[in-house]
Amino acid sequence: MTKVSVFIATSLDGFIARVDGSIDWLERANAVVPEGEDCGYKAFMASVDVLVMGRNTFEQVLTFGAWPYRDTPVIVLSHRLLSIPEAIAATVTISQESPGELVTHLSAQGIRHIYVDGGKTIQNFLAANLINELPITVIPVLLGTGRSLFGPLPHDMPLKLIQVKSYQFGFVQYQYRTFRTYDSGTCDPRFQTLNDAMLATTFRCTSCLNWYRYHQMFIIHQFHFVFAS
Ligand SMILES: NC(=O)c1ccc[n+]([C@@H]2O[C@H](COP(=O)([O-])OP(=O)(O)OC[C@H]3O[C@@H](n4cnc5c(N)ncnc54)[C@H](OP(=O)(O)O)[C@@H]3O)[C@@H](O)[C@H]2O)c1
Repeated sequence: MTKVSVFIATSLDGFIARVDGSIDWLERANAVVPEGEDCGYKAFMASVDVLVMGRNTFEQVLTFGAWPYRDTPVIVLSHRLLSIPEAIAATVTISQESPGELVTHLSAQGIRHIYVDGGKTIQNFLAANLINELPITVIPVLLGTGRSLFGPLPHDMPLKLIQVKSYQFGFVQYQYRTFRTYDSGTCDPRFQTLNDAMLATTFRCTSCLNWYRYHQMFIIHQFHFVFAS
């Protein structure tokens, strides 16, 4: 299965940018990070096959001057006709696909790891249950207002905390993993057809926390289930 990850920094009160999109607070915090420390970003990027970002994030990255993603293919989500600078035209494409369509089409191309970036974009992928891993680096600052990392969801989303790392310069990185949640009444579209993968999958009941095979879960339980991603 294709893994879909987020790698993002937020203020302690959950904002990824100010209301106007600026990230001066993040740049200020990064300025005190010791030389050579990147909180795992380089290693993470080395594992990424495709980066998917929202148009707002793309426009912000363009203001950085140098394009930071080198040869990594980047898909920018936008409903607009964006012009892509010539220097990055070979690796950047525009798409209007939904998160589900995008993951399906990239999986079919053999893509193993997708990095999703941008607040609204991450929210859309989370709402579609398509994020697997969320390393979130919390910066010790309160902004009071801004663009949120998280937004409305169709249901609660249980997360598994994999690791917490605190840095002496004040950052704390939480590594979360999602379960892909659905309830037995509204089956996840990928599982509407009973297939070998589904039969081989073990599901976890969010109520009693026991693990079940597909047939058991509908016979024994009628509540919410999650399956390991
Ligand atoms: N703190 C951090 O680590 C961090 C990381 C990344 C970004 N940021 C900051 O966060 C801000 C950007 O986040 P954001 O929440 O404002 O927006 P965003 O997710 O970057 O972009 C949202 C836009 O993406 C487009 N979009 C998303 N899904 C789409 C789809 N399926 N089809 C077509 N278009 C789609 C839409 O653009 P159109 O209006 O063009 O249709 C939408 O308005 C920037 O200020 C950036 O600097 C911070």
